[in-house]
Amino acid sequence: MSEALPGLGEAPQIQPCAPSVPTTARAAIKGQQPRCIWLTGLSGAGKSTLANALEVQLHRRGLHTFLLDGDNVRGGLCKDLGMDAAARKENMRRMAEVARLMVEAGLVVIVAAISPFRAEREAARALFGKGEFLSVYVSTPFAACARRDPKGLYRKALSGQLKDFTGLDSPYEAPLDADCKIDTASLSVEEATLLLLDHLQVA
Ligand code: ADX
Repeated sequence: MSEALPGLGEAPQIQPCAPSVPTTARAAIKGQQPRCIWLTGLSGAGKSTLANALEVQLHRRGLHTFLLDGDNVRGGLCKDLGMDAAARKENMRRMAEVARLMVEAGLVVIVAAISPFRAEREAARALFGKGEFLSVYVSTPFAACARRDPKGLYRKALSGQLKDFTGLDSPYEAPLDADCKIDTASLSVEEATLLLLDHLQVA
């Protein structure tokens, strides 16, 4: 991770103020229950594909959504972050905080990020109320992801050209308590999307 900016750190004098328009009112005007659907899994597991397919289906049903995809967020908000453990933790913290803000805005937010560490995934969940957070483990095994290798990253990592690669020389802590587990090696995108819609109780 890049060095902390001077002046950043604890801000003890901050006093949060309650908004005059509460989350419930923002949600009510949209006619939906705001929530965060968090997809975790290896690179190439199918998180982005599934997240996009799910967002399309939710959007078609008139829901107000937003997709936070790791690769995209790393092009902007998180472009100062690398791939070592500290940077990944900070990446997850920012994704979770942004998702939290979007849920407060009344949106249904889908996060698609490797998010390899259990503690940071739990910290993300803790930002949300009961029923506001759905964790989805896209459990496609390493070998299947390496065979697919959609971005050529497995080839690079396996030949030593890419360091800190998830599942190789950077750990992936599989969830023990995911709300939903999807192996895209044995389910089609359509089947997996239907499973998620079912979990979300969206007809
Ligand atoms: S996370 O670990 O911090 O959650 P995130 O999902 O944001 O990762 O970004 C992962 C994306 O970065 C992958 O989809 C891949 O395209 C790219 N990437 C680049 N280097 C690596 C690496 N060393 N390990 C995994 N993914 C990498």
